[in-house]
Amino acid sequence: MFAAYASALDADDPLSGLTVGERPEPSVPGDWTTVTVRATALNHHDLWSLRGVGLDEKRLPMILGCDAAGVTDDGAEVLVHAVVSDPDWRDDETLDPKRSLLSERFQGTFAERVAVPRRNLVPKPSALSFEEAACLPTAWLTAYRMLFTQAQVVPGQTVLVQGAGGGVATALVALGAAAGARMWVTSRDPERASRVLSLGAAEVFGSGERLPARVDAVMETVGEATWQHSLRSLRPGGTVVVSGATSGYAAPTELNRVFFLQLRVLGSTMGTRDELVRLLAFCERTGLRPPIHQVLPLAQARDGFAALENGDVFGKVVFTP
Ligand SMILES: NC(=O)c1ccc[n+]([C@@H]2O[C@H](COP(=O)([O-])OP(=O)(O)OC[C@H]3O[C@@H](n4cnc5c(N)ncnc54)[C@H](OP(=O)(O)O)[C@@H]3O)[C@@H](O)[C@H]2O)c1
Repeated sequence: MFAAYASALDADDPLSGLTVGERPEPSVPGDWTTVTVRATALNHHDLWSLRGVGLDEKRLPMILGCDAAGVTDDGAEVLVHAVVSDPDWRDDETLDPKRSLLSERFQGTFAERVAVPRRNLVPKPSALSFEEAACLPTAWLTAYRMLFTQAQVVPGQTVLVQGAGGGVATALVALGAAAGARMWVTSRDPERASRVLSLGAAEVFGSGERLPARVDAVMETVGEATWQHSLRSLRPGGTVVVSGATSGYAAPTELNRVFFLQLRVLGSTMGTRDELVRLLAFCERTGLRPPIHQVLPLAQARDGFAALENGDVFGKVVFTP
C-alpha cells in the first residue's frame, strides 16, 4: 500500500528521512482492526519523529501520522484515537506509562490503511467531513484537554494562547472562544495575527508584548521563546498549561514568581477517548470546524512537511491517501 514513512532520522534535516512509496499491508493482532484512511492530518509530532525525538532508529521504517478518519471493514465511518494504551489499562489512557502514539511503536496513519485497537475507534459524526474529522484526534484533542480538563477554563475568563498559526494554537482559540472565554493570542506574524481574529480571538499581540492585564490561564506550546512571557502574564493563582515546546525545551523559570504568585504549572499530553467523544459533540453542537491550511494528496506529503517546518501554516495540513 501507499504510505509516507520515516526511512532515516536526522535532527538537523528531518525531511531527508521522509520517504513516500510502497509499504506492506498492516498486520492486525486479534483485538485490532483495519481502517481504510480517507483523510489524515500532519502534526509537529511527525517532524519530531523525523528528527529522532520519540522514535528510535531500531523501529524504522515507520509510517508516520497520528490522525486518521476513515472507514472500517464493515463500512462504519470512524475517527481513530491515537493514544494506544496497554490492553489491561483501564484508567485515563494518557497516564498509562506503557502508552504510545500511533507512529511511535505501531505503524501510523499516513497510509492507505492503518491497524488500530478496536477500542480506539470513535464514530465520526456525519456533520464532519473526513478532512475535518482527521484534524481532531491530536491537535484539537490536546487543546480540548489543556483548556477544559487541565486549566478548567470557565466562560468569562481571559486566556492567553502563545502562537497563532499552529494546529494546537488555532484549536485553542476556536474552542476557548466558543466556550465563552476571552482569548488573547500572541503571534510573530501580522497575517496569522489577523487571521486568528476570525477564529474568535478577542485581541492579538506581538510575541513577547506586554499585555494590558494579567490573564487567568496561559496555553503554552511554543516553549523557550515564550515561557518567561507566559509566567509574567499570569495573575496570582493563575495556571499555565504546557503541552509542547516547538522553540526549545530548556526554558529558564523564575521560581520566585511561581511560588510567590502561587502559579500552577501543569503539563498536558493528548487526551482520552472520552474527551475525544466530548470534543466531537462540542464541534457538532457549536458548528465549530477546524481551519484547514491545505489538503494535499498523500503523494505530496513532502510539501506539507516543508510548510510546517518553515512555520508557514495557519491551521491543519491534511493528506488524502
Ligand atoms: N503533548 C501533546 O500531546 C502534544 C500534542 C500536539 C502538539 N504538541 C506539541 O505542541 C507544539 C505545537 O504543535 P502544533 O502542531 O500546533 O505545531 P506548529 O504548527 O509547529 O505550531 C507552532 C506554533 O508556535 C508558534 N511559534 C513557533 N515558534 C515560535 C517562536 N520562536 N516564537 C513564538 N512563537 C512561535 C507559532 O505561532 P506564530 O507562527 O503564529 O507566531 C505556531 O502557533 C509542538 O511542539 C508539538 O509537538 C504536543
